Amino acid sequence: MEKIKNRETFSSGLAVFFATLGSAVGLGNIWKFPYLTGQNGGGAFLLVYFLCILFVGLPIMLSEFYIGRKTRKNAVGALEQLKPKTAWKSIGIMGVAAAYIIMFFYSCVAGWVYYYLFKAVKGDFVGVTMEAAKAQFGAVIMGPVSPIIWQVVVLVVVSTILAMGVKQGIEKITKTLMPLLFVLIIICDIRALTLPGAAEGMNFLFHVDFGQLSATAVLAALGLAFFKLSLGMGTMMTYGSYFTEDNNMFSTAVKVALSDTLVSMLAGIAIFPTVFSFGMEPGAGPGLLFMTIPLVFSQIPFGSVLLVAFFFLTAIAATTAMLSLVEVPVAYLSEERGISRKNATVLSAVLIAIVGVLATLSVDKASLLGHITFFGMGFFDLFDYISSNILLPIGGLLIALMMGYSIKHEEVVAELSNHGKLKMAKLVNVYFILIRYVTPLLLIVVFLNSIGILKF
Ligand code: PHE
Repeated sequence: MEKIKNRETFSSGLAVFFATLGSAVGLGNIWKFPYLTGQNGGGAFLLVYFLCILFVGLPIMLSEFYIGRKTRKNAVGALEQLKPKTAWKSIGIMGVAAAYIIMFFYSCVAGWVYYYLFKAVKGDFVGVTMEAAKAQFGAVIMGPVSPIIWQVVVLVVVSTILAMGVKQGIEKITKTLMPLLFVLIIICDIRALTLPGAAEGMNFLFHVDFGQLSATAVLAALGLAFFKLSLGMGTMMTYGSYFTEDNNMFSTAVKVALSDTLVSMLAGIAIFPTVFSFGMEPGAGPGLLFMTIPLVFSQIPFGSVLLVAFFFLTAIAATTAMLSLVEVPVAYLSEERGISRKNATVLSAVLIAIVGVLATLSVDKASLLGHITFFGMGFFDLFDYISSNILLPIGGLLIALMMGYSIKHEEVVAELSNHGKLKMAKLVNVYFILIRYVTPLLLIVVFLNSIGILKF
């Protein structure tokens, strides 16, 4: 009990929900989800993504909550406590590594968002045309100096908030600003849906054509599900460790997954009608968000004010997601390595800035370091691929195997039901079936399929 008292927790059930949602909702919804859906052919990709959320994402999220709240420790310490002196600890260590690798490119894209906010305030997008929107994005990513400066600004903001701690920092910001983001995306949707030719965009998003689906697309959908729900790398364990004792973790997991998916869908509904209405390429890649949103708002009364609001809230969403990313190494370094929370934060930010610059300078083939490639990928794409498509799913697979085969079921039942206070015997059974058989099997099949050993 002593240990629990010394450690911070979120202050209420509502705070738990918003903080966790604040981790899930981020650039993944507004930037990555639309462009991956665009690149992978629309509806069929979306369907596979939903299945991944349901059969892989939800059970793993619940497992991570369990690991965190049961032990009240950082990702590495939690696994060491659950399974002392075993190799399961490597899940936590991989998680710390994955957090850094994601931050290397995430901080770059967050930098573009901050930069776009600044440009929107200056009025750079007033009356913008499609060509101009494309040219502006090109200029932003090519920099080379300004995107690096903005990336550093992002890291300074994130570390300042993190150094303030769990309650002051993470909780306050997420609780106030998450709901606002919702409202603003809906305004975007209404305008996008009333553009000429909007129906074609909706058709692209919702029409399922399995002919469009490749093995790479399936792996991308799986990776996106992990990335979206912040799974497979200890974020949800670390946040779980700050949950209140009476939190219904089943309901938190379901509510977070649903709301997060809703935000992604709303972002897709804002973007695809616009893409088709202006005759753009849905497979345009990472620039999709940045080229379409200024266009949507250029068509709305008070568009320039709303555009500022949109990028402001996107910046907030990206920032709260980054807080949860960097919290993984910060909690680890401060609890296991005896480094103060402040120093751990500064150390992490410096490391991310140094390596992150490589990502920023290699976004495009024509970028300064764009010619350096590994397996055909520049640093930016490589960091994204290694984390989303390899580290997170492997982390998830190990979590599923540990929970399904190496932890006593009575303990899981006790923790998930808050020691019998919640009646959920049936749900717990469903959870066990998924985590033992369905989740690991799906993960293995997708892996084997993506490396070509299994073909379907
Ligand atoms: N879920 C966040 C997003 O969609 C990204 C993230 C991944 C955050 C992993 C934490 C851990 O933007």
